[in-house]
Amino acid sequence: MDFDSALASLFQPEGRLDPYPAYDVIRERGPIVQAGNTWFVTSHALVNRLLREPGLRVADAADYDRSWPDWRENRGVASIVLSMLQTNPPDHSRLRRAAAATFTARRVAGLREVIAGQARELIEAMPARADFMSAVAFPLPIGVICALLGIPEQDRAWFRQRTSDLTVVLEPISSEEEMRAADVAGRELEDYFTGLIADRKRAPQDDLTGALVEAGSLTGEELLANLVLLLVAGFETTTNLLGTGLTTLFDHPAQAARLRDDPDLAPAFVEEMLRYDSPVQLTTRYTSTDLDLGDGHRLDEGSWMNMMLGAANRDPERYPEPHRFDPDRPNIQPVSFGGGAHYCLGAPLARLEAQVAFPLLLAMRPGLHLDGVPERRDRLTLRGYATLPVATG
Ligand code: HEM
Repeated sequence: MDFDSALASLFQPEGRLDPYPAYDVIRERGPIVQAGNTWFVTSHALVNRLLREPGLRVADAADYDRSWPDWRENRGVASIVLSMLQTNPPDHSRLRRAAAATFTARRVAGLREVIAGQARELIEAMPARADFMSAVAFPLPIGVICALLGIPEQDRAWFRQRTSDLTVVLEPISSEEEMRAADVAGRELEDYFTGLIADRKRAPQDDLTGALVEAGSLTGEELLANLVLLLVAGFETTTNLLGTGLTTLFDHPAQAARLRDDPDLAPAFVEEMLRYDSPVQLTTRYTSTDLDLGDGHRLDEGSWMNMMLGAANRDPERYPEPHRFDPDRPNIQPVSFGGGAHYCLGAPLARLEAQVAFPLLLAMRPGLHLDGVPERRDRLTLRGYATLPVATG
């Protein structure tokens, strides 16, 4: 595969099924390469460094106003752009602070038993032949984030399709039809959260929605966008980690047996799962000033960069034999949760859910195996499975 076809393959369904060979070809050109008017960053060291670089920004509402004046009409786009994910300092810290207290390592560690209880119930209820995505990988993270946000149990299933439709706006390329579906999903989610916010104003409650309403530091529009973000960021990625992690265990039965025998290995296994097949494969930044990288590369102000998180996690300079799943690697530290100011707020929660779920699954369903061909979702940014058929015994 040459460089041009490697790059092109990432934007085609077949290439997206397994982007890793293409990443290797692109990385061979150097840690950062320009293609058209976009830069692709593929080395672990440079991705890590640039995510923390003050001269880089995320595209925020003011940028969208310049490049796409009607963007607010698409409510899927609006709910992501108006959230902390696409906001720069100083507003970014104000938005992030309002939600951050809920996600400190200590608060999250306190959720271990709640997560274990939900996981146990779901694994017990999983039929002998099941789609793992529907039986566990979806309901566990949605149950946890909805419990935090104070969303009633009966409403949870409703979010799956809407979230899936909305997150297409995070992809580098999407069709008109997908963008229309994202708009509809954005409107429905906004309506839902408008109702929830009104409930909390009438009757305050001790949950994340109540805390954000009470903080009073967010405009109505910001409040809505960040609730939508917390919901969609809070489960689709974790669902994908659970699905991808399980297929990785199926592909490595000796490693799965080690984890079954010693659940204390779970943190190392989950870090390596995150590295080996990251649920988030890329994120974008642009330069707010001319930027000299000091290695011969000079980027003009306004240059677009794709931070290829999935490629950085398979960088041979950082990880010997990068295509091998090896939870014994020292100091894994993948860039799957990003880095710098936008470092994933939910990282401790996502890690804990996976660290709790896999040992329970292996202990409660010792004969669990693949029972058909898993179907991947055709996405580059949010990588995961649509269905994952499994059977016990
Ligand atoms: C395996 C699961 C997850 C992965 C791989 C993941 C990945 C990421 C990444 C890469 C970013 C940074 C994007 C960027 O810099 O442009 C991010 C941001 C974020 N994530 Fe996660 N995430 C996961 C789970 C969660 C969970 C469970 C929550 C919430 C409950 C969450 C909430 C957020 C929020 C609010 C942000 C925006 C932070 C900011 O802009 O300051 N994520 N996530």
